[in-house]
Amino acid sequence: MSQQPVRLGVIGAGWIGAFHAETIATRVPGAQLAAVADPVPGAAERVAGPLGVEQTHTDADALLADASIDGVVIASPAFTHTDLVVKAAEAGKAVFVEKPMALTLEDADRAISAAASAGVPLQTGFNRRFAKDFADARARVAGGAIGTPQLLRSLTRDPGLANPGVVKPWTIFLETLIHDFDTLNWFNADARPVEVFAKADALVAPEFKEAGLLDTAMVTIAYSNGALASAEANFSAAYGYDVRGEVFGSKGMIQAGDVRASSVRQFDSAGISAPTARLNIELFHDAYTDELVSFAHAVRTGEVVGARGEDARAALAIAIACVESYTRNAPVALSEAGRLA
Ligand SMILES: NC(=O)c1ccc[n+]([C@@H]2O[C@H](COP(=O)([O-])OP(=O)(O)OC[C@H]3O[C@@H](n4cnc5c(N)ncnc54)[C@H](O)[C@@H]3O)[C@@H](O)[C@H]2O)c1
Repeated sequence: MSQQPVRLGVIGAGWIGAFHAETIATRVPGAQLAAVADPVPGAAERVAGPLGVEQTHTDADALLADASIDGVVIASPAFTHTDLVVKAAEAGKAVFVEKPMALTLEDADRAISAAASAGVPLQTGFNRRFAKDFADARARVAGGAIGTPQLLRSLTRDPGLANPGVVKPWTIFLETLIHDFDTLNWFNADARPVEVFAKADALVAPEFKEAGLLDTAMVTIAYSNGALASAEANFSAAYGYDVRGEVFGSKGMIQAGDVRASSVRQFDSAGISAPTARLNIELFHDAYTDELVSFAHAVRTGEVVGARGEDARAALAIAIACVESYTRNAPVALSEAGRLA
């Protein structure tokens, strides 16, 4: 095993790319931020400069052509992911790609086979797997602590919808609830999802519904072991960023996630209050670090501990079925949705 730090490039220097770049540069032992790429002039420099990284590009191809880079973190918009995964794999780089890895199942397969053909690790950005409470819950379920899973739930309530006009159609399924679909699949690992029914609406910003906004959704998923799951999302939780999961089984129940940002409780004339996280990078700060520590391990050893390309495909299949189910207002079999994608 090489003692040299692994050299990572970040592709896409927006909201999460900037945070991943900072994480790599400051919190991932044995990794070095080598370069940042973003097509918007000045964007890569704004992220790389304060982190002491000189190599920046407006073209991701130039970053991929750098033979000194061992792996890349792809944090560009969703529609660019598959092509970048394929190019990165062909360039021999280990790949970490943000969710969703692809927008169609054909593209998901293309990404998975490119990584397999090139023999490079492919890890996907389902950071909840690295949250200590979620990982503990999953280990307990897998160890049989609550018997056979019968009911599962996962929810994402995002605290802000600052600009509803820029939210792309189907975001709630393809980019938000896809986290919950991965969590549910991961919790119920011995089964596969077979049927999906999705209801959704624009309740937060109804004036944007015509333009395709859906900001509130409830999805039910039936699994091959008979377990029933629900996944829900809303883009405007007044009280903070709220992500929770639960598995109810024949011998008990496991819950993970706590909306309270710390154990501090304030008692005053209004009652009791507690602080909450307002941003994903606050609530999941350590999980985002640990997923990239894990990616550095994958770069070094080839072993992917987090979500793999196949897991991203499985979560995407549910998201695509949700689009179909919402459009038809009917339950959709996963086999059917697979054909439609
Ligand atoms: N795992 C998580 O919790 C999490 C959180 C936030 C975002 N995301 C995902 O990360 C991705 C990016 O989201 P964001 O909120 O940071 O978006 P963003 O719009 O803030 O940033 C995207 C950046 O990518 C750049 N870009 C566009 N095309 C590019 C290309 N071809 N090559 C390189 N860069 C390109 C843009 O100029 C922009 O700077 C999305 O897929 C999103 O779903 C995941």
